Amino acid sequence: MISERLQHAREFESESGGSEADRPAFHVTPTVGWMNDPNGFSVFGGEYHLFYQYHPYSNAWGPMHWGHVKTRDFIKWKRLPAALAPDQLYDKDGCYSGSALELPDGRQLLIYTGVCKSAADGAVQEAQTQCIAIGDGQNYEKHPMNPVLDGHDLPTGGHPEDFRDPKIWREPNGSYHLAVANRTGDGSGAVLLFGSRDALHWEFLHTLDASHGKFGGMWECPDFFRLGEKYVLMLSLQDMFPQGLEFHAGNNTAWLIGSMEPDTAFSRQAVQPVDYGIDFYAPQTLLAPDGRRIMIGWMQNWETSGCKVEGHSWFGQMTLPRELRMENGRIFQRPVKELEAYRRGRMAYRDVTVQEEISLAGISGRVLDMTLTLRPTAGASWFRLSIAKGGNYSAAIYSSLAQGTITLDRSSSGLNRDILHIRTFPAAMQEGILQLRLVMDRFSAELFVNGGAQAATMVLYAPAEADGICFAADRPVMMDVEKYELGGF
Ligand code: FRU
Repeated sequence: MISERLQHAREFESESGGSEADRPAFHVTPTVGWMNDPNGFSVFGGEYHLFYQYHPYSNAWGPMHWGHVKTRDFIKWKRLPAALAPDQLYDKDGCYSGSALELPDGRQLLIYTGVCKSAADGAVQEAQTQCIAIGDGQNYEKHPMNPVLDGHDLPTGGHPEDFRDPKIWREPNGSYHLAVANRTGDGSGAVLLFGSRDALHWEFLHTLDASHGKFGGMWECPDFFRLGEKYVLMLSLQDMFPQGLEFHAGNNTAWLIGSMEPDTAFSRQAVQPVDYGIDFYAPQTLLAPDGRRIMIGWMQNWETSGCKVEGHSWFGQMTLPRELRMENGRIFQRPVKELEAYRRGRMAYRDVTVQEEISLAGISGRVLDMTLTLRPTAGASWFRLSIAKGGNYSAAIYSSLAQGTITLDRSSSGLNRDILHIRTFPAAMQEGILQLRLVMDRFSAELFVNGGAQAATMVLYAPAEADGICFAADRPVMMDVEKYELGGF
């Protein structure tokens, strides 16, 4: 049964879905209105499904629905009707983030956080509970047992109003595990692990890890998976204080890397930021049938989510799906290999000497995949790649070769708001070489440094005609360039 509220959302999106012309070419955007976190990124019926936090009725956050798209190759996406609306008592104030999997009987299970506010003693109380919907890949029935987890299932001290973002997976023995974020008695976040035989009846197993105030306040959007020889707890961390150049103030994302013995707690050995850029939050992964662990994130941040481009019928983009791999205890990421099938018009230069600002014939554009290999000569202390350049617009990727850092600067990229525009992160040369791979898609730039040891993402606001690219350095830097246009979506 499709509820009236869901039917209304579906009709609204089919009537008001904006044109595809003012959008990125291959990054997911909402059908219409607002989008935040990726949800339910998973394999179903041989295709990849992606849901998202969705408010179709305006380009601002509002009562959360789940939008829905699917793909066979992570690049070309097909829009599907909205999957969930806040239409039950237990989720009347929003269907928050969650995950999905294919059940052994071929149906698709969605698990999400239902939000219900009520007034008691003159104050508003919020309950966040975990709820299930089961369907055929397009239409879903909310389960009569909902909610399947609520405040009574929390360990002592856990806050029922901050209990959200369930991530489900199946263990090799056929049982189910669920990681859910919760605010603990000390006011900061933790990830709780629950177990179940049927994905409906859950019991609390143990706490996977907790912030204890060291890594921000509330934790959000947990994901937990094995990568190489390690286990990874991926998190979105609210309200952090900065930690050097590794974590900035505000909301961050992190991989907690460690080991895990069966039935014992996760033991954290290292912490690594997921993306060092300006616009990245709430990532989620899936395990592809070929064994690749693939991650997608919301290509935005909450601080700048009030900055809207006039005339766009949509707000919010997803990142490019990225393959993760573990190398010597560090996680590397790169764009999914399927992107290479969309490369067109190769332009390449070898051994270009860069010093005074230059541009190169055939090297420009806003939808492209470009790799620079830089070999600075003695004394070169900086190199600058300028992109989305035209008129008064430009954005910079500035490498301080001397300090081993990269700075993203999009101050002049079309947004007339005094918000966060600049971010610096550690990214040093490796054996005298700095490699920068940049994927641009009209309104974004995703940077992968030295084979993906660091990634940094930023949204661009300049009009698409600002498509110039320039290179400069203080002393000669030898540069190879390989650039492809991307097309055929
Ligand atoms: C993260 C988040 C989630 C929540 C959702 C609500 O960006 O705050 O914790 O489920 O957004 O839209």
